[in-house]
Amino acid sequence: MTEHTFSILKPDATRRNLTGAVNAVIEAAGLRIVAQKRIHMTSAQAGKFYEVHSERPFFGELVEFMTSGPVVVQVLEGENAVARYREVMGATNPANADEGTIRKLFAESVGENTVHGSDSQENAALEIAQFFSGLEIVG
Ligand code: CMP
Repeated sequence: MTEHTFSILKPDATRRNLTGAVNAVIEAAGLRIVAQKRIHMTSAQAGKFYEVHSERPFFGELVEFMTSGPVVVQVLEGENAVARYREVMGATNPANADEGTIRKLFAESVGENTVHGSDSQENAALEIAQFFSGLEIVG
């Protein structure tokens, strides 16, 4: 089934000028980038986005990192896009990520792990709506 998922290229990716390199892996995996913009998240935006993690010990560090530089927010389209992108990203901790995945190729640590992808279709819809209007998604 063709679906959409939400993706973020995190500040460690933009800092190292890896936007194109990560996008090449996404596209080679059969996902289409149907919306994309580079933004600098505010603390309020990052705090809202990661609200489910607000009780975690790393929450402050996570918000600080996600606001430390520009990010690229994206909508990806493809067959089973949510699950497909999670495969392509690899495990949250790059030490556990499979060969060829984005995190194995590029991520530096569990905190600075290059990309975010939605974990369900329901969250994908909520996350996409936080950053994009329908008019900005062009499939
Ligand atoms: P992400 O998919 O963006 O969603 C939550 C993020 O929390 C996750 O990726 C990691 O980057 C981050 N995270 C998870 N565990 C830790 C940790 N132990 N320390 C710092 N950040 C973490």
